[in-house]
Amino acid sequence: MAEDLSDYRKSYEKSELTIAQSDHDPFKQFKKWFEEVEEVVGVEEVNAMTVSTIGLDGFPKNRVVLLKSYDEEGFVFYTNYESEKGKAIAINQDVCLSFFWPNLERQVIIKGKAEKVSEETSKTYFNSRPEGSKLGAWVSPQSDVIPDRKFLEDRLKNLENEFSDKKIPKPDHWGGYKVIPVEFEFWQGRPNRLHDRLRYTPGGVHWKLERLAP
Ligand SMILES: Cc1cc2nc3c(=O)[nH]c(=O)nc-3n(C[C@H](O)[C@H](O)[C@H](O)COP(=O)(O)O)c2cc1C
Repeated sequence: MAEDLSDYRKSYEKSELTIAQSDHDPFKQFKKWFEEVEEVVGVEEVNAMTVSTIGLDGFPKNRVVLLKSYDEEGFVFYTNYESEKGKAIAINQDVCLSFFWPNLERQVIIKGKAEKVSEETSKTYFNSRPEGSKLGAWVSPQSDVIPDRKFLEDRLKNLENEFSDKKIPKPDHWGGYKVIPVEFEFWQGRPNRLHDRLRYTPGGVHWKLERLAP
């Protein structure tokens, strides 16, 4: 089976990115881009991002998660601490986040260190979730092999009974990670594959901002 996709081709012409236009603070630059993407009609899940970890088997692995908050320190997502990614982060905190926003022909890549957020922060977010999602966190032994779908449905039924008249607490194995950036790259698609790429790296008091070849 050979599929030729060589005709999939697009010229990127929507915008540009220069050092002069960019904020010297990469967090502020991220916020600017994020809000611009949010304003484009029809963009779903602007906050979906890829998280890459280095696994216990030595391979990198990417998966999509949802960015749930960000501030001038880092980027927070929630997951099961005993999942494959949780086990990977326990051994190696170095991760990479990436966002692809096709409507504005933009990509952001953030290398950083993943740290667990406080139990308090995880609890506050957990308590804000719909009941079904709260139960889901209890039901699913994320990333474990399970016999069949019925296994999940049976567990859900049991837990629905167990918590029918009780507040659903946050499981200990569930919570947030905050990724503290060590590098940002902002990529804006441009014509003729001569894209704009700006990289921020720590440079003493301020971030160092450089242009990279596409
Ligand atoms: C759009 C989208 C959003 C997702 N959001 C999350 C999330 O916020 N947290 C999470 O643990 N998994 C989320 N997932 C599922 C993950 O991609 C992944 O399947 C799961 O976390 C298990 O990953 P692991 O086995 O590599 O640890 C999402 C998947 C998609 C496609």
